[in-house]
Amino acid sequence: MLGKKNKLQLATTFALIRSRRSPAAPFRNTYEKSRKGLFQKFSMTTIVPIPCDSYKLGFIGAGKMAESIARGVVKSGLLPASQIRTAHLGNARRTAFESFGVKVLDHNSQVVEDSDVVVFSVKPQVVKGVVMELRSLLSEKQLLVSVVAGVKLKDLQEWAGHSRFIRVMPNTPAAVGNAASVISLGAAATKDDGELISKLFGAIGKVWTADEKHFDAITGLSGSGPAYIFLAIEALADGGVAAGLPRDLALGLASQTVLGAASMAVNTGKHPGQLKDDVASPGGTTIAGIHELEKAGFRGILMNAVVAASKRSRELSNN
Ligand SMILES: NC(=O)c1ccc[n+]([C@@H]2O[C@H](COP(=O)([O-])OP(=O)(O)OC[C@H]3O[C@@H](n4cnc5c(N)ncnc54)[C@H](OP(=O)(O)O)[C@@H]3O)[C@@H](O)[C@H]2O)c1
Repeated sequence: MLGKKNKLQLATTFALIRSRRSPAAPFRNTYEKSRKGLFQKFSMTTIVPIPCDSYKLGFIGAGKMAESIARGVVKSGLLPASQIRTAHLGNARRTAFESFGVKVLDHNSQVVEDSDVVVFSVKPQVVKGVVMELRSLLSEKQLLVSVVAGVKLKDLQEWAGHSRFIRVMPNTPAAVGNAASVISLGAAATKDDGELISKLFGAIGKVWTADEKHFDAITGLSGSGPAYIFLAIEALADGGVAAGLPRDLALGLASQTVLGAASMAVNTGKHPGQLKDDVASPGGTTIAGIHELEKAGFRGILMNAVVAASKRSRELSNN
């Protein structure tokens, strides 16, 4: 039996080793030997830390999302394009990636064989077949990532044959470097793996970490949210036209107003209710507009939209 003090020391050592950045492998091996027979209930790990500035990044699925991430990563200087690869046989997609220096191979298997981090960025309908087809090439030496909407870690891990997997839910503003992404770590993904992927998605916007149980709600809010705001921009512009503005001017003002308001909400640290109060003077124009929105149930409508989209996401991911 281990004494209380020894147990505490071993737990501390274990936590220290887990939290080490690279290179942790030699320490891990020594530690694995030293704990043999003491902590048999922990399985021997084959997880090797991935060096955060020199890893090779591969995309399975050379579509819009993969291109946004790859462009953001190269633009931010996080990785050079020479360390990124994908596969596609179509000329248009090949040219899109090659135009900024990313290597485009012919087969998914070549991408997997030549990558430390593999991002699955295909459509939900095909992801199972794609992962299963590559299964024999996948090992815990690689960190696997999925940006596929509505597909759970439990299934991805089962198809891949291991659980060093991270699920990410980005959104469409990724295309302009302003995504809101949420990551959730699979069973064998380490803290360092999480940091590496946070940095990767940090190149195309902001990143949060959340329990996977929240992913349907996240889909309803940030995943579907850009569409709600596009609708709002269009409606504001229509209001401007109804009030006599030329269409171009109305659309420009509506878009910039949403961008400016969002920027204030993010950058001032003030509660949005406070920001609203600050611009609504007694008997003024803004409070007259707000009164109309409240009469029509504006807040309730937005809340209902998020709840309905979350519910739909849950239905789809349970199918
Ligand atoms: N776009 C977004 O903002 C966004 C946001 C959140 C999540 N996502 C998720 O990201 C994933 C990709 O979305 P996307 O917008 O990038 O879609 P997309 O542009 O259609 O990209 C998917 C790519 O996968 C390729 N593909 C199809 N089957 C393949 C296979 N067997 N092996 C390798 N590649 C294959 C497609 O090739 P073809 O060109 O031949 O069709 C296409 O280039 C989806 O699962 C989506 O849920 C996207």
